[in-house]
Amino acid sequence: MTSSQAQTAQARKAKPFDAVVQAFALLYNRLPGSYNGLVGALDYRAPDLVAEALAAELTVDKPHILDAGCGTGLTAKAVMKRLPDAHLDGFDLSVKMLREAEKTQLYGTLKSADATQRLPFRNDSFDAAVSSGLYTLGHVGPEALLPVLAVIKPGGLFALNIYDAAWEKLRFEEAIDHLVADSLVTVRTLTKATHFGRIGQTCRVLVLDKH
Ligand SMILES: C[S@@+](CC[C@H](N)C(=O)[O-])C[C@H]1O[C@@H](n2cnc3c(N)ncnc32)[C@H](O)[C@@H]1O
Repeated sequence: MTSSQAQTAQARKAKPFDAVVQAFALLYNRLPGSYNGLVGALDYRAPDLVAEALAAELTVDKPHILDAGCGTGLTAKAVMKRLPDAHLDGFDLSVKMLREAEKTQLYGTLKSADATQRLPFRNDSFDAAVSSGLYTLGHVGPEALLPVLAVIKPGGLFALNIYDAAWEKLRFEEAIDHLVADSLVTVRTLTKATHFGRIGQTCRVLVLDKH
């Protein structure tokens, strides 16, 4: 077998998480209108968890906030409930999810973008960023922290949740320790919470200070 045949065979070999990733991709790209109902049935709490964590720490009036991996806009609803004078922009990889987010009329600008790449927003421009449900297996790992941090103002905050399975497997703790050691962030708060109440799935909820 040549090395390129070996690579193709390797790529075809099903990985344990593939089915879940494919199910999510199907949901985001083919059935975005079903997302809120499906996660609602699982008692999805991540948007409220990150919005609560951010609102407890953010002291800026009329804050300009970026919603990273905004999906259908559930996090915007949770943020606006607690910070009604906020101005929200958002981005997501899935154009279909963005169309659902647009229907909430809670965002100024919505863009299609990949959290692992340089983002199409000005560096150092947001008072804060918020993200729920993005940092997990099958979505993004620690490589998607710096692109979001880059567009937050120095002194701004990033509130996010990281599913526990990803926290360990994708070595988020180590990555965040590196960001702290490099003086890029300080961990302001770090708590454990349940993001899917119906099935008892847990996550870390963090608020990072960008330096
Ligand atoms: C579980 S949903 C969370 C959506 C929303 N934040 C919420 O809590 O309801 C994950 C979202 O991340 C988006 N996503 C996955 N990978 C991404 C990436 N690399 N860049 C940006 N968005 C991504 C998906 O399209 C999906 O809308």
